[in-house]
Amino acid sequence: MKVISRRQFMGTAGVAGWAASRGVSRLFAAGSLRQSGPTYPQLEPTRAINFTRPLRLPSTDGGMFGIFQPPDSFEITARMSMAELVPGAVTPLWNFEVESAGKRFMNPIIRIPRNGRIRAKLKNELLEHSIIHWHGLNVDWRNDGHPMYEIGPGGTYDYDFPILNRAGTYWYHPHAHGNSGMQVNLGLASFFIVEDDEEIQLRNALDLTLGQTDIPLILQDRRFNEGAFSYDPNEEDLLSGFLGDVILVNGTVNPFLDVQSRIYRFRILNGSNSRNYRLALTNGSNPVPFTIIGNDGGLLDRPYPASQVFLAPAERVDVLIDLRSARDGDVYFLESRDFDPMHREHDHGVPTRTRVSFLPDGFQFFVLKLNVKGTTAYDKSIPQRLSEIIPISGMSDSAGKVFSFEAPDLHDDYRTWKIRVCDPTPEGTFCVEHSFEMDSFPVVVQKGTPQLWQMVNENFSMPHPMHLHGFQFQVLQRSGTPAQAAVSVIDGQGRLATDKGWKDTVNLWPGESVRVGVDFSHPFTGEQNYLYHCHILEHQDKGMMINYKVV
Ligand code: C2O
Ligand code: CU
Ligand code: CU
Repeated sequence: MKVISRRQFMGTAGVAGWAASRGVSRLFAAGSLRQSGPTYPQLEPTRAINFTRPLRLPSTDGGMFGIFQPPDSFEITARMSMAELVPGAVTPLWNFEVESAGKRFMNPIIRIPRNGRIRAKLKNELLEHSIIHWHGLNVDWRNDGHPMYEIGPGGTYDYDFPILNRAGTYWYHPHAHGNSGMQVNLGLASFFIVEDDEEIQLRNALDLTLGQTDIPLILQDRRFNEGAFSYDPNEEDLLSGFLGDVILVNGTVNPFLDVQSRIYRFRILNGSNSRNYRLALTNGSNPVPFTIIGNDGGLLDRPYPASQVFLAPAERVDVLIDLRSARDGDVYFLESRDFDPMHREHDHGVPTRTRVSFLPDGFQFFVLKLNVKGTTAYDKSIPQRLSEIIPISGMSDSAGKVFSFEAPDLHDDYRTWKIRVCDPTPEGTFCVEHSFEMDSFPVVVQKGTPQLWQMVNENFSMPHPMHLHGFQFQVLQRSGTPAQAAVSVIDGQGRLATDKGWKDTVNLWPGESVRVGVDFSHPFTGEQNYLYHCHILEHQDKGMMINYKVV
């Protein structure tokens, strides 16, 4: 029996109304659907004309997303503060703050050489529990921000770890138990950039300067209410992920950047709770090719030409934008092209979405405007080799674990996506479904062993960006990729350019299956307890996460 609930009916009407209105301004202006500031129509990312604010560039002088090179030790404080993000409105924000050498940083971009060391005291001045997780870094679990170690208001936590990772664009954010979605959405997140010789070589070859021509870009969608971030997920948002309708890049709403005729590097992080981006570069209506050089775990083996790249929550992509032939006055846009978000929850009994966001997943919008201002003499070209990716080997082909994902049961009061873990045993395959429990460890792996993990997103579901703590992995094979993403497949294993290096987060579209190799080798003594979870933060918070133990 199929009953259309009132909620479902209203949801359908709401989306149709949205599409019919040819832009969100009338809905916003009407003010009947939700409270919103008077400036909302100027914030719509679907209109090129709105891209009028200079992009906040990371500066070594401090400020928001300033570049911070940590001294021997430092304090980092999670607290509420204020910033003017929307003209005329003061936005209360949650931020990580650091004061160092007379400079004040909000959400500092931590920049550190490989083999450096972090000694940091987190001070929690929020009114709730929190803890920092260093996303993508190979650290022991006491430094990893497991929610078991979250600290209460007024508490502190001491981090002390060496930087073992190769150069790459990592990041950090809270990992509070059941509460990461809100804390990240209200502002707590930034980059953690590791550098090594290869990285410096590339920078020299292309004459790149971090913060000027090598620019970290954190993409975040937010809802505003009277100038303030509003994190107010309803039941459906919790189920399919919270979406904002205003896009911020480095905390700048609808930004532009003045550029010259040369090569730029953008290290793009999807810092959104649940939104996927289909990034492309355009000049007028013409697509402009770009080059993918890195991903979650640093540089790829070589540059890969691209015309689009999907970026799921928590993923990073490192791209080169070649403006050598651009002319003064040219305008380019980094944009997110439209795509099928492949939300099919209702097909297995979960209600149709009735989201509060006016920018549904899969809609087209602009991200960053590039104004070419003048030409410059620039004679560098992209090196043909970037790094060496040594393939993980030594896993036995059959012994892989299989992870799949279960939609919440419509009749469950506490609707939670689950992770199903299947183990091959001599008696056959044995599967158990899990949602997160602090003290249960459904997966145990032997330290020092390479393993094959297979992740499968069965049909009728939705995309899930799956993230592993503790180790970077390699994508070995991808299958069942939908056409919109499969256009970027570059090898016989179904892999994308962004699969070709090291990763910590891999997106699975409905129907997709990905085999990854993980080498569970690390130098830490004793058992280590890490996490494996979906990086749609509402899924993570609701329990689409498991502990795993390395013994
Ligand atoms: Cu970026 Cu456990 O997360
Ligand atoms: Cu992580
Ligand atoms: Cu998910």
